[in-house]
Amino acid sequence: MAADPLSLIRANGRVPCHVAVIMDGNGRWASKRGLPRHAGHWEGMKAVREAVEGACAAGVEILTLFAFSTENWKRPQSEIDALMQLLCAYAESEHEDLAGHGVEVRVLGEISRLGSEARAAVDLIEDATRDGAVLRLNLMVSYGGREEIVRAAGRLAERVRDGRIDPEAIDEDMVERMLFTRGLPDPDLLIRTSGELRISNFLLWQMAYTEFHIASVLWPDFTRKDLFAAILDYQRRDRRFGRVATR
Ligand code: IPE
Ligand code: IPE
Ligand code: MG
Repeated sequence: MAADPLSLIRANGRVPCHVAVIMDGNGRWASKRGLPRHAGHWEGMKAVREAVEGACAAGVEILTLFAFSTENWKRPQSEIDALMQLLCAYAESEHEDLAGHGVEVRVLGEISRLGSEARAAVDLIEDATRDGAVLRLNLMVSYGGREEIVRAAGRLAERVRDGRIDPEAIDEDMVERMLFTRGLPDPDLLIRTSGELRISNFLLWQMAYTEFHIASVLWPDFTRKDLFAAILDYQRRDRRFGRVATR
């Protein structure tokens, strides 16, 4: 009998510390069923649960989910509203369970662009889960990789102008400290669902040496098995970081 994926992951021993996910394909999932796009987003909430539980089971320490991009603000208002309602519903229905499982949630991005209800939901879920020590869950909302880098450049420029730092002293660590993800290790593994082969402005700085795993499954159908398959795929990679092969 084949070993179950979790035992294989443990036997391989190199569990990715930080897994990032572009949760894609909700609209197509709904269209295939003759449903409105927002039905796909709502169904996607189950997949978020699967990803969180699977990450905890596998021993992943940081899970970063792309929930809403800077460019997604260009979608029809009705779809934006549905996604914001979903964020509120997720915070409301999941905060206790997440706290109980030791998950610390942070919502990262240009949160100031959110409406007051969505901002209240962000406060609720962050406050309720503050001490979680099992998994750090980053929900990237109103997030764009280029915008994040521009913001970092602006903040560094301000400090130079105010005489607080010397431009010569600016290095990668200093830029890293200006990012939403400051203090976190870069993602080891990126999973994108729905088969699309692009980065779509996600974590541009942080993914310099991230391993990519493209899954054809549409996000609402994603289960922990898909996560385990991605981790097993990752465990077969030889990460060279520009050096020569290690095996
Ligand atoms: C991902 O699903 C969710 C968000 C981008 C908010 P999509 O809404 O992009 O679904 P597709 O890619 O159109 O199928
Ligand atoms: C990326 O998916 C953003 C999120 C998953 C939140 P999109 O569906 O917005 O990306 P494109 O438009 O296909 O590149
Ligand atoms: Mg999409």
